[in-house]
Amino acid sequence: HHYVVIMAGGIGSRFWPMSRSNYPKQFLDILGTGKTLIQSTFERFAAFIPQENIYVVTSAEYVNIVKHQLPELPLQNILGEPSRKNTAPCIAYISFKLYQMDPNATMIVAPADHLILDNIAFNKVCLEALSFVTKHNALITLGIKPTYPNTGYGYIQYEQHEVSDNVYKVKTFTEKPNLELAKAFMASGEFLWNAGIFVWQVKNIISAFEKYLPEMYEVFLAEKARFNTPEEHAALLEIYPLCTNISIDFGIMEKADNVYLIPASFGWSDLGTWNSAYENLEKDYLGNAVAGNEVMVFDSHNNMVHAQKDKLVLLQGMEDFIVVDTDDVLLICKKEKEQEIKEYVAEVKRNK
Ligand code: GDD
Ligand code: MG
Repeated sequence: HHYVVIMAGGIGSRFWPMSRSNYPKQFLDILGTGKTLIQSTFERFAAFIPQENIYVVTSAEYVNIVKHQLPELPLQNILGEPSRKNTAPCIAYISFKLYQMDPNATMIVAPADHLILDNIAFNKVCLEALSFVTKHNALITLGIKPTYPNTGYGYIQYEQHEVSDNVYKVKTFTEKPNLELAKAFMASGEFLWNAGIFVWQVKNIISAFEKYLPEMYEVFLAEKARFNTPEEHAALLEIYPLCTNISIDFGIMEKADNVYLIPASFGWSDLGTWNSAYENLEKDYLGNAVAGNEVMVFDSHNNMVHAQKDKLVLLQGMEDFIVVDTDDVLLICKKEKEQEIKEYVAEVKRNK
């Protein structure tokens, strides 16, 4: 059977003040579409995978938010982790759990917080990937054509000849390179960005854990008999403190020799910052992007504005600003300074 695992444990700090650690961006309607990011992600998969085969793995503190936002999802498919250990332990957990239920399971692992515009193209790529991994011991990742040297992504270099329709063998995988390297990768024209969406057979990713993260593998192996029993939670409480904090990208994808790539273009954005939200929203004729509710704009250009329901925001004479209004915080920040938002949040916390 095919399964989908939506990872939803991150904290999304660059979308402050909308995104808070107790209510991060995957649970918000950043673009004002009427749906939160995790709701859109769930719907995208529910179009071709039965709901009972879709799992959400998140921090224990967000389990209730997920229940509330995805009422269609069976409760036992919402899994809470006792602590934040990045994506490798999250994937190890769900893999061992699914393997026990279905040793021939295949799975798609996806972030909860990405924007994908073309759901039909997305669906097609996922089915291609599932069909390939059913026949091969392959760890598939989806690759996106890069547009600028972003240092927050993984960069994938791949062989030029197809091994199968639209599937390529990966030569190198470099997670979060420095700027110099990212520029060189871009210039070479040989690299794609890692979309962070993976497809594989559960048993093959478990073998990769055994090979590349053997300590983590042993910890899960020792406790796996308690999965899918009333003791699962107790088992996790023992497992998680023993896990290193590492992403699947650094832990496995950079090292494995059976990584394959499907180039994809389905209008992807990881919606990492307010500027990326700006880029993906429709603009008025003055270049202002407005999400959320009522905004009146006069003599103002190229602003990103997020307003609250039932509250009017009026701008005059503003250019290139991010304006985000929430119940308790109003942020007004130059668009080009958005990377500093993280630091301001730290300052806010210090002063509290
Ligand atoms: N359950 C769970 N537990 N989920 C987590 C955890 C965790 O401890 N940490 C992060 N996540 C979730 C996030 O909520 C997000 O949906 C997804 O896992 C990916 O984590 P990020 O922290 O957003 O990763 P990234 O953006 O820095 O990098 C990844 O995505 C890039 C594309 O957006 C990598 O795969 C990069 O290679 C890739 O280019
Ligand atoms: Mg991300």
